[in-house]
Amino acid sequence: MERLIKPLSKLSGRVLVPPDKSITHRALILSALAEGTSTIETPLEAEDCRSTAHGLQSLGCQIDFQPKQWTVKGRGLWGLMKPRGPLDCGNSGTTMRLLSGLLAAQDFVTDLTGDASLCKRPMDRVARPLEQMGARMTMTGGKFPPLTINGTRNLKPIDWKNPVSSAQVKSAVLLAALHTIGETIYEEPFLSRDHTERMLSACGVNVRREGARIRLAGPARLKAQTWRVPGDFSSAAFFIAAALLVKESHVTLESVNLNPTRTGFLSVLTAMGAAIDVANSNDVGGEPVGNVIVRGPARLKGITLKKADVPHLIDEIPLLAVVATQAQGTTVLDDVGELRVKESDRIHAMVQNLSSMGASIKETETGMIIAGPTPLHGAVVDSCCDHRIAMSMAVAGLIASGETHINQCECVSISFPQFWETLDTLK
Ligand code: S3P
Repeated sequence: MERLIKPLSKLSGRVLVPPDKSITHRALILSALAEGTSTIETPLEAEDCRSTAHGLQSLGCQIDFQPKQWTVKGRGLWGLMKPRGPLDCGNSGTTMRLLSGLLAAQDFVTDLTGDASLCKRPMDRVARPLEQMGARMTMTGGKFPPLTINGTRNLKPIDWKNPVSSAQVKSAVLLAALHTIGETIYEEPFLSRDHTERMLSACGVNVRREGARIRLAGPARLKAQTWRVPGDFSSAAFFIAAALLVKESHVTLESVNLNPTRTGFLSVLTAMGAAIDVANSNDVGGEPVGNVIVRGPARLKGITLKKADVPHLIDEIPLLAVVATQAQGTTVLDDVGELRVKESDRIHAMVQNLSSMGASIKETETGMIIAGPTPLHGAVVDSCCDHRIAMSMAVAGLIASGETHINQCECVSISFPQFWETLDTLK
């Protein structure tokens, strides 16, 4: 499905952003491993989370899907069953990597597969630590899905230093470590999103953090929970950026998760000169939550992104490239090579698309350099079937002259199924 985006001179209103994708995946998985019945209030009812839910159902877990409430009957750490066929993780890297962690500890063989995009994403990053713990993992070319996991009940704890900051790898190792006797230590260069640690603690697991080093003592028993999922900062980000760029804007994003390991985009926008207000802060399910109020247009200046900030805005970097086209001076987004192995090669996708709209943007091996401000003009752009590229290009289209056509826009169903309707309500 193609979408036509026309320029806007004003954007105003309130948006209740969709529930957090990362937290919904984790709530499903931890509920499946818990003892007793858990409920997930306001789960993200989107494709990626359904991939995790269906994977868990294939492993014998009962899930009742009611609108805005899912109920999961936990099977305890050792109650999962061998699935009848391969688990299809769809487009979801989080599903494949997190499920790998718990499947490494089962005494059966599981095959995991996914769509064309997922089958191009590296899985050796989860395989290496899980193999060290004792599982056997087989992948195409030693790296890509389909992935076969030959698990073992005798998994051993490890002391693992990961070369990249990745919440998916960290979570896979921690989920595997729940099943071991002894302490697992996991360290990454800079702390990635910490929902798994927070949520495991809520379940009664002994997990401790020292900077970017996590310690988890197994074996664990998880208590069933009532999870409340706050709004997804990564979905709110599209409207934060749009409101900063479109003239005469006043937008309030409600109930947004403001976990500091997720809000790097806010800090970077502030450093670029944006004035963004946060109000009504409270705590939802162990996560800080608040309303984000944005008025536009902002007078922005270019920045050089710091390496330590990258994990805290990893999914917002394509959108940051759009914002940078309107900032005065040069923006250097370096050390973001991880974007090449997301749902698409997001560096290449953004450079191609923004160049075709008239931006001054250069691709480097590990990032992008953008000079601004440049007026954008409408063009035919490629979503690359990647939800975050489609939504980032929609924001670019709002400030471009003429019409912007974005192809294969149904991909927003991965994380934000109502994105187009939500945008319409703010016009
Ligand atoms: C996620 C972690 C990040 C992020 C992804 C969701 C998660 O990936 O890009 O959208 O829920 O753990 P990496 O762990 O590969 O950085």
